[in-house]
Amino acid sequence: MASVTSLTASVHQRLADALSAALPEAGAADPLLRRSDRADFQANGILALAKKAKANPRELAATVLDALPANDVIKDVEVSGPGFLNITIADKAIIETLAARAADDRLGVPFQQDAGTTVIDYAQPNVAKEMHVGHLRSAVIGAAMVEILEFTGEKVVRRHHIGDWGTQFGMLIQYLLEHPHELDHEGGKEDGEAAMSSLNRLYKASRALFDSDEEFKARSRDRVVALQAGDAETIALWQRFVDESKIYFYSVFNKLDMQIDDPDVVGESGYNDMLEETCRILEESGVAVRSEGALCVFFDDVLGPDGNKVPLIVKKTNGGYGYAATDLSAIRDRVQNLKASTLLYVVDARQSLHFKMVFETARRAGWLNEDVKAHQLAFGTVLGKDGKPFKTREGETVRLVDLLDEAIDRATSVVREKAEKVGLTEEEIVENGMYVGIGAVKYADLSTSAVRDYKFDLDQMVSLNGDTSVYLQYAYARIRSIFGKAGDRRPLAHPELELAPAERALGLHLDRFGETLAEVASSYEPHKLAAYLYQLASLYTTFYDQCPVVKPAPAPEVAENRLFLCDLTARTLHQGMALLGIRTPERL
Ligand code: ARG
Repeated sequence: MASVTSLTASVHQRLADALSAALPEAGAADPLLRRSDRADFQANGILALAKKAKANPRELAATVLDALPANDVIKDVEVSGPGFLNITIADKAIIETLAARAADDRLGVPFQQDAGTTVIDYAQPNVAKEMHVGHLRSAVIGAAMVEILEFTGEKVVRRHHIGDWGTQFGMLIQYLLEHPHELDHEGGKEDGEAAMSSLNRLYKASRALFDSDEEFKARSRDRVVALQAGDAETIALWQRFVDESKIYFYSVFNKLDMQIDDPDVVGESGYNDMLEETCRILEESGVAVRSEGALCVFFDDVLGPDGNKVPLIVKKTNGGYGYAATDLSAIRDRVQNLKASTLLYVVDARQSLHFKMVFETARRAGWLNEDVKAHQLAFGTVLGKDGKPFKTREGETVRLVDLLDEAIDRATSVVREKAEKVGLTEEEIVENGMYVGIGAVKYADLSTSAVRDYKFDLDQMVSLNGDTSVYLQYAYARIRSIFGKAGDRRPLAHPELELAPAERALGLHLDRFGETLAEVASSYEPHKLAAYLYQLASLYTTFYDQCPVVKPAPAPEVAENRLFLCDLTARTLHQGMALLGIRTPERL
């Protein structure tokens, strides 16, 4: 494993040195380097520096140019416009850098310097309830962040904060007690659908009784008390709901091609033992105060429509604990026991006020501070094709599994259409259909900025043209097919060759993989990785059109160098897609 210094980083360093040599009194100055269409890079930092030093920017630019020692990386620098530097990289440096990447299993991507421990809260459905598109987003975005952070060297602890506690369980448990066989079903332990449909049936029946029968309602309320008191029989029944629901959750995660491990599922109930202490600490430290019988935390900037402060309620007037007490206890656990340096929550933007208040409370209590940060990776709503929140024609929330099944169906037909040409077996068609369908759903979610709403449009998602996972998967498979019988032979780079514009553009982009990942990891923006990969596939397409690899046959070392670029592109695509949780079949 050897990390590779990117061309951007080495050019940046050289320019920064030249800047301080040209103008020592300015101290360390940022050359403000960016990719440019005119040359490979443009440095704009001289303008600000000249202003500060009251110098003529074009003259200063010329001095900087003189201070730049001769080197192998920069082939050409030119002063342009009011004092920009246009920088062209040497072809040799591009291929040599890429060859160093190709020699490394991690494609030369360095481990982050100051890695810490991130506890990530994602994929958190609710017990005895259906999973819908909101749960999809948390799962997909969260899983991508897990992979990306781990790849950069961060230690990651997964936490699935499932909704497994609350007063609604009183009604469900009471009903099950009175109708002991209602959760029985034909399907075995693996049958998620059977588990969910019996849960649904029981939920509806108990709800109907609860709404129509006052005595059942009263018995249900007593059952909540028994549950909270830890009554053994009540807990045993509650556990059945949790277990049946988990069978279902796992079946959906499985379909999503996502691994969720049981020890990482620590739901709301997992913090029951801490709730009392959390409240005591908050009250004794004065962070929370009694108000109308409840234990509350107030904030100057959280006001209701009447202008009065709206509190975070940590303990209700009736002594019950809610969502906030659980989340505050979870923070204590994650910071004190799991030793987190970062807490990341992949949760719907509609819960942003909750997290704002919870984080601020934790800060006042000292659980969060300079060394331990919390961040909500908030995501927007999934909309139907009509641009309205996603509902069935009957106005019900759409079941996530139904959407996934439909995506797989559609994708399978797309795959089947091309299958004959590639010579896929029926088995491969079915497997690829799954990878393409699930990939399409994940990619659509990951390729727009998380906070934005997006339209769930299967036609668009499985389209072969445009910014879709299928497009990227085909690009990958096409590259792999070039290697065909050559198999896994690693082509050799030829740094001595002059490069065509499309080769340079592809090469410079390949070199930016590590930088992109570092940015995505620190800003929690997986859509930037999707954009990078899409651009990679597009640059590859242009390269493939303009620079023949096989026919018409170029000179042998040119062909070899092009194969080298193909191979590195495929490996980068494969790695990037894997980080997004998307498979890249070898044949498609
Ligand atoms: N179960 C919740 C829901 O479905 C999400 C939980 C988010 N995580 C948390 N720590 N509050 O909306």
